[in-house]
Amino acid sequence: MGIHTQPARLLPGSLIAALLALGAAGPALGDDDDHNDEYDDYHEHGERHVGRWVEPGEDVRPVSNAAYAEECGACHMAYQPGLLPGAAWQRIMAPDALMDHYGDDASLSDDVRRELAGYLTTHGAELSRKSRARAFGVGDSGSGTLPRITATRYFRNEHHEIPSRMVEGNPDVGSFSNCNACHQGAGDGVYNEHRVRIPGYGRWDD
Ligand code: HEC
Ligand code: HEC
Repeated sequence: MGIHTQPARLLPGSLIAALLALGAAGPALGDDDDHNDEYDDYHEHGERHVGRWVEPGEDVRPVSNAAYAEECGACHMAYQPGLLPGAAWQRIMAPDALMDHYGDDASLSDDVRRELAGYLTTHGAELSRKSRARAFGVGDSGSGTLPRITATRYFRNEHHEIPSRMVEGNPDVGSFSNCNACHQGAGDGVYNEHRVRIPGYGRWDD
């Protein structure tokens, strides 16, 4: 996927159009080379509005609901809706479930709860056009108790090589639920492995 290493602004318009057409047809999931550092530098310069070209920089759509960002970002990062399928969000957003939310009380008024549940279920993983988000919707997300992003098959596949001393044993991380402790772009929906810095350990090279 060498063509993705060229910043779009250096290319003539007709070539950009051709590359966009290629990119739209190309595979993304599981292809480690579809993200790279030059690409990320480009992304970080904030030039995100040239259509499909920059889309692969985001693995899930950033949070776009202010009430959600505030209410569900109070104790941990506001997880993007594309990190779980709608059915899982529905279980998490049930009144009883919010009262006993992974050991915390995250209750909301019924109005707010309904609004946020609607936002989450209409932006769930299975509805995303982004392949990494869709991967979070495959298989179950933890059985029995509340669903977890960290219990999805895709999450476990991507993180099983990381030793627990870097996570539970790491005071600056604590648990895999703290995506943004390691993924520098987590708040923007960018999770690719080239933007990982594990506190106390630095870049992840595998
Ligand atoms: C009062 C604090 C608090 C609030 C408010 C809160 N959460 Fe949580 N949430 C937690 C805790 C604690 C955990 C468990 C973290 C862990 O296991 O390390 C958690 C875990 C989660 C997980 C599972 C993460 C994983 O491990 O995969 C999801 C999903 C989640 N919260 C969604 C939400 C949503 C949606 C809202 C808003 C309705 C919300 N949270 C509001 C405290 C809170
Ligand atoms: C302890 C640090 C750490 C935490 C916390 C963490 N990750 Fe990761 N994540 C990594 C590392 C390291 C990789 C790359 C693994 C590899 O390539 O072997 C990765 C890979 C990924 C990938 C695949 C990226 C790619 O380029 O294919 C996704 C998606 C992802 N993480 C999402 C999440 C989400 C969502 C959360 C929170 C629920 C999270 N991660 C929490 C360290 C972390």
